[in-house]
Amino acid sequence: MSYIEIRGLSKRFGSNLVLDNIDLDIEKGQVVALIGPSGTGKSTLLRCLNLLEKPENGTVRIGGEEYNLTTRSAKEKVRLRSRTEMVFQQFNLFKQRNALANVMEGLTVVKKIKKKDARKIALEKLDKVGMSDRLYHYPRHLSGGQQQRVAIARALAMDPELLLMDEPTSALDPELVGEVLQTVRKIASEGNTILLVTHEMNFVKSVASRVIFLENGKIVADGTASDVFEKPQNQRLKEFLININVIDGVDYNI
Ligand SMILES: Nc1ncnc2c1ncn2[C@@H]1O[C@H](COP(=O)(O)OP(=O)(O)OP(=O)(O)O)[C@@H](O)[C@H]1O
Ligand SMILES: [Mg+2]
Repeated sequence: MSYIEIRGLSKRFGSNLVLDNIDLDIEKGQVVALIGPSGTGKSTLLRCLNLLEKPENGTVRIGGEEYNLTTRSAKEKVRLRSRTEMVFQQFNLFKQRNALANVMEGLTVVKKIKKKDARKIALEKLDKVGMSDRLYHYPRHLSGGQQQRVAIARALAMDPELLLMDEPTSALDPELVGEVLQTVRKIASEGNTILLVTHEMNFVKSVASRVIFLENGKIVADGTASDVFEKPQNQRLKEFLININVIDGVDYNI
């Protein structure tokens, strides 16, 4: 039995079958990079696991409980969402709240933790992401990189079994990418279980314990970074890696 078991996840938008009966097991502490061409369903997969999209079918077993991803129950949604916290490309902080209040919000409102205890947890997580000196800053007074680090602290504070990250650095100015990647690297090294969509392939090579290539709604490659990048077996994967300049097409006669 795996730490996280996703079964039979299918999602369509009209006639467009975006996720085609996906099964995926993730072990505790794995840092799984999800890669693939644009429009291949990477964000949709993460959004289904956070119940931001309602799939046609699918279950996830997490923390000893099975959830139906098609659920409409508000209570179930809140429960699963705190187990699969999401970090978005656009940070999605509460604009009217400062950094500390952003991190405390889920703890007091969802987890019903006392303010004093929530504050302690929030301070600890903000320290972890290097934001202790910006506790009372509002999002508009923080750089993109700082906002994203607060968003990471907010997700971590909920102590999720699985942390979902959808291109956490792609909305950032180039000079701010490094600080967020450093933060992700740090939390990855601390035993957090992470499913990460990113186009930062060098980062994937150095941080991911596992790489999954999604194409046409199916997982067509799944292995270590060196399996996937150095010995790609699948033709579409080879083409993808050539297109993003990870491998040289000459050797592959494409
Ligand atoms: N709300 C929606 N309504 C209709 N179609 C959608 C919706 N959201 C996504 N899609 C379609 O589903 C497919 C998968 O989209 P998704 O955003 O998951 O791709 P992605 O792999 O994350 O792409 P990218 O790398 O560009 O972020 C695309 O064809 C997209 O147009
Ligand atoms: Mg996407």
